[in-house]
Amino acid sequence: MERAITPRTRAIVPVHYAGVACEMDAILDIARRHRLRVVEDAAQALLSGYKGRPLGAAGDLGCLSFHETKNIISGEGGALLVNDPELVERAEIVREKGTNRSRFFRGQVDKYTWVDIGSSYLPSELVGAFLYAQFSHAEEIMAKRRRLCARYGERLAPLAQAGRIGVAAPLPPGLSGNGHLFYILLPDADARAALIRHLGEAGILAVFHYVPLHSSPAGQRFGRTGSAMNVTDSVSARLLRLPLYYEMSEQDVDLVSACIAGFFGAAP
Ligand SMILES: Cc1ncc(COP(=O)(O)O)c(C=O)c1O
Repeated sequence: MERAITPRTRAIVPVHYAGVACEMDAILDIARRHRLRVVEDAAQALLSGYKGRPLGAAGDLGCLSFHETKNIISGEGGALLVNDPELVERAEIVREKGTNRSRFFRGQVDKYTWVDIGSSYLPSELVGAFLYAQFSHAEEIMAKRRRLCARYGERLAPLAQAGRIGVAAPLPPGLSGNGHLFYILLPDADARAALIRHLGEAGILAVFHYVPLHSSPAGQRFGRTGSAMNVTDSVSARLLRLPLYYEMSEQDVDLVSACIAGFFGAAP
């Protein structure tokens, strides 16, 4: 990370992939030494923890997503956690189309006007109502997802122990997860494509992600890396997400796991 920093760098944006915390102490230390802001991409990390703190709460700003693919959803939507009091007023302005309308509503100015950049980022009340209902079941949703992840872990352990697939290592002490997703690592891209086909024939949809930013057209145009990114390239070619959603049952997990075991010719 430090090798990627230039005099034009302003912020570090760690991504808490799968709701698992980045090494925030190290990142905050680098940011402090280089006088950079930290903006946490906690899109997948609602209710995950790092050393007793919720993810999104350690950087200057934290971004949560309520996109339909996340644990707690409102179709589209998200939240900005503003952890530096100095940034609160500007955040209010940016989300209110660049106006000081929030100050107007509080009676701090007699009319509102345009004072900065911004756009129409406010969610509607209907979206808010939907999200509120989701939040009132947050712990229950999280617990269910964690249970499903644990079940995948148990059912796929024999294949992992035999070295046929890779699974995520247990979280180190001090970190807590939110059961956002469960993935396996295949030996190579061809094996992944073949397993996707095998699962598809059984009516099971498994998808992969992401194209690494540094290899995307926009990444190549705007970005730079501090090293060759070999690990990212290798993992992104081999990673497969398994089905995981609130309505899923533990029997469904067993079915998917058995189908994977069948693919490798192992006993389910
Ligand atoms: C890691 C990560 N960052 C950012 C986003 C974008 O979130 P949103 O779609 O709410 O803008 C997503 C999900 O879509 C994500 O998984």
